[in-house]
Amino acid sequence: MPLQVIVGAQWGDEGKGRIVDWFAAGARYAARYNGGDNAGHTVTVGGRIFKLHLIPSGVIHPHVIGVLGNGMVINPQTLLEEMEMLAENGIEVSPRRLRISFAAHLITPAHKALDRAIEAARGRAEIGTTGRGIGPAYTDKAARTGLRAADMLAPDFADRLGVHLAAANRLLGLYGAPPLDPAAVCETFCAYAERLKPYIADTAFELETALRAGEVVLAEGAQGTLLDLDHGTYPFVTSSSTVAPGALTGLGLGLTAAAGARVLGVVKAFQTRVGAGPFPTEVSGELAERLRGSGKNPWDEFGTTTGRPRRVGWLDGVLLRYAARLNGLTELAVTKLDILTGIQPLRLCVAYQTADGQRLDDLPFGPADLGKYQPVYEELPGWEEPLGELRRWRDLPAAARGYLERISALCNAPIRLVSVGPEREQVVEK
Ligand code: GDP
Ligand code: IMO
Ligand code: MG
Repeated sequence: MPLQVIVGAQWGDEGKGRIVDWFAAGARYAARYNGGDNAGHTVTVGGRIFKLHLIPSGVIHPHVIGVLGNGMVINPQTLLEEMEMLAENGIEVSPRRLRISFAAHLITPAHKALDRAIEAARGRAEIGTTGRGIGPAYTDKAARTGLRAADMLAPDFADRLGVHLAAANRLLGLYGAPPLDPAAVCETFCAYAERLKPYIADTAFELETALRAGEVVLAEGAQGTLLDLDHGTYPFVTSSSTVAPGALTGLGLGLTAAAGARVLGVVKAFQTRVGAGPFPTEVSGELAERLRGSGKNPWDEFGTTTGRPRRVGWLDGVLLRYAARLNGLTELAVTKLDILTGIQPLRLCVAYQTADGQRLDDLPFGPADLGKYQPVYEELPGWEEPLGELRRWRDLPAAARGYLERISALCNAPIRLVSVGPEREQVVEK
């Protein structure tokens, strides 16, 4: 399986980072195919916590080459800060082990300002974006007015930036937001460009060549299936193709690269969501506090990127089945199973009910109309044992295995991996 796609099966924050880190042990490349620094991927190794926003999580392993694919939108400032953070932690990030696709798009301060202005204008209908300029950067890409990494190589980069800023300032004016100072932005961006130039490459060609040579390429998804621009809970989505097929366009690989690929869906043992949008199995009160955590533990459910408390709820099997279909999942990794210890009984959403009492096992029009449905729950016994020290499937409590088997049956995909704590080694392989 030279191509291995690791994709979030819910609304993001499933634990993709730590699962990518696990599989990267056997990979040559780790390549991000979508999104930007709206992502926050956590890897915990020996008590050291790495929070990665742009650089693929696989680079914590010294033998792995990290790729920022053409499907991404990259804020050069965040990228340079992240490179510095890694270097300070003894992780090399020279052009020898990090590449940026020439076709990846750039996020500028104007995109961030527009993101904030557009959200403010939406008022109560706001999406609750991360404010990182993601939507406006992809808007420019689709409008064919964006700046790409390759523009940083051009002698007239400052002029190109100037055109972009003039257009953005006109738009900001329409929203009543203050304009940016083009001279100041140009100065900082030209300095960023000088530092990033050596990293810009034809990554699609390099990845294709590696796959032909039989090397393992991990494609790391950001966000999750239900935040996909086409297939998610539109309009409460992000602006990129988060699903596994997005790995092909987002890395510049042909369809044949997908033949025999591993498509691993990362599924949190319960459901979380940051920002607005429908969430049928959402819970509140004591149970919510239990699932979310108080914020004292690093793994508690507060946004890696924005620090916002995440909404929490029961695992939604209908949405999981949908994610399995959209991604073509070949297997699952279930994370944070340890958090469910002591919750009795567990509930699992297996179908929906419409207002007139009709039972739905699947979604007639995708997840856009989710808000209309009531979840139909199945109750399963929970368990009391802490799971953090367990490493073998047969050592898991029978009720935990039962819960996992039910998840697997609901979406017809086998469970490959279960994580029982944030540390690299806290994994049960099946
Ligand atoms: P990602 O965006 O999908 O990579 O996920 P995040 O890193 O945003 O959020 C997952 C959080 O859960 C991080 O704080 C991880 O360290 C933590 N985590 C991952 N797997 C486990 C697990 O099995 N148990 C516990 N307790 N925490 C986990
Ligand atoms: P990772 O990769 C969870 C959410 C935002 C908002 C919506 C649109 O860590 O799983 P955007 O800034 O992308 O325009 O915001 O998408 N969102 C995420 N939620 N995890 C993420 O990334 C997310 N990236 C964006 O909260 O609801
Ligand atoms: Mg995250």
